[in-house]
Amino acid sequence: MDKILVTGGLGFIGSHTVVELQEAGFEVVIIDDLSNSSENVLDGITAITGKTPIFEKIDLKEKQLVEDFFKRHNDLKGVIHFAASKAVGESVEKPLLYYENNISTLVYILKELKNLPEASFIFSSSCTVYGQADKMPITENAPVKPAESPYGNTKQIGEEIIKDICKITPNLKAIALRYFNPVGAHKSIEIGELPIGVPQNLVPFITQTAAGIREQLSVFGDDYPTPDGTCIRDYIHVVDLAKAHVIALQRLLNGANKDNYETFNLGTGKGSSVLEVVNSFEKVSGEKLNYKIVGRREGDVISAYADTKKAKEELGWQTELTLDDAMLSAWNWEKKVRGV
Ligand code: WQD
Repeated sequence: MDKILVTGGLGFIGSHTVVELQEAGFEVVIIDDLSNSSENVLDGITAITGKTPIFEKIDLKEKQLVEDFFKRHNDLKGVIHFAASKAVGESVEKPLLYYENNISTLVYILKELKNLPEASFIFSSSCTVYGQADKMPITENAPVKPAESPYGNTKQIGEEIIKDICKITPNLKAIALRYFNPVGAHKSIEIGELPIGVPQNLVPFITQTAAGIREQLSVFGDDYPTPDGTCIRDYIHVVDLAKAHVIALQRLLNGANKDNYETFNLGTGKGSSVLEVVNSFEKVSGEKLNYKIVGRREGDVISAYADTKKAKEELGWQTELTLDDAMLSAWNWEKKVRGV
């Protein structure tokens, strides 16, 4: 049974990926510093798969702790690296926290992977690297544009670091997965998104408003050049996203990669506006959502949705779940968390 390290494995996408890894027969070790997650996510994972992953609470910014970890687990076959700070707005206020947390930790892990006989590395990247792409849908060859935030910059720099290391390290191969907008929850509602504080992202804000935690959803602008005036994004169900990580890892473990550094967009290929997401929520939940149109949010791109051809042809992966599936699972999860 191949042993895989999942950093940030108690987070939203990380926990869903741990479930899919276990169900694919991998042994999973999680490192998480619990800065943006909670240890009882382990119970949710166990409730779904019947197996409790090994968990070590480690701050990856502590270089010595990272070295010690790899000494204890020198039989690792691969790493899926989620651990990072990911709030766009916060990154503008605290850039050094983002550069330290997102870049130094990546470097320490890559240093250890270089010493393994064979290493497969999956990097959590983001469509943010494209900024406002000129052409829709966005392909992997779309130019990487100057980042709109330190968070987006850490993803661009991270990809460059990995590319440079892979060029000179024959035993290391890597895939960067550029997520569009991950939403929803596992159908069991044993795991889901647990935003801390006021949610920055659209879908948790919608479900918290419907649950009465938030007063009203503010829709940031309806004067964009789009059919209904609100911004367009590619909302991908987190379970589809998690499955793509397992497939990408298996591609590397099986030596099916065509280069030892590859990138793939992970999206549905379909753009949905903010109001279409609200309508989907109201349809599947039967709830009327309290929202108002306000001014634009600084840094928002008008439209971003994925060209999914490369992932389909090379990974043999495509999404199976719809926006409605995602909204219903997000709502069921919210109700469970709030005990409603
Ligand atoms: C989506 C749309 C908002 C909240 C960010 C990161 C990206 C990734 C996903 C990490 C936009 C609108 C939102 C609200 C609103 N994160 N909105 N009212 O900004 O596309 O992507 O999160 O990888 O890297 O950039 O996601 O959910 O914040 O916004 O109207 O209260 O919803 O204006 O059009 P975004 P989002």
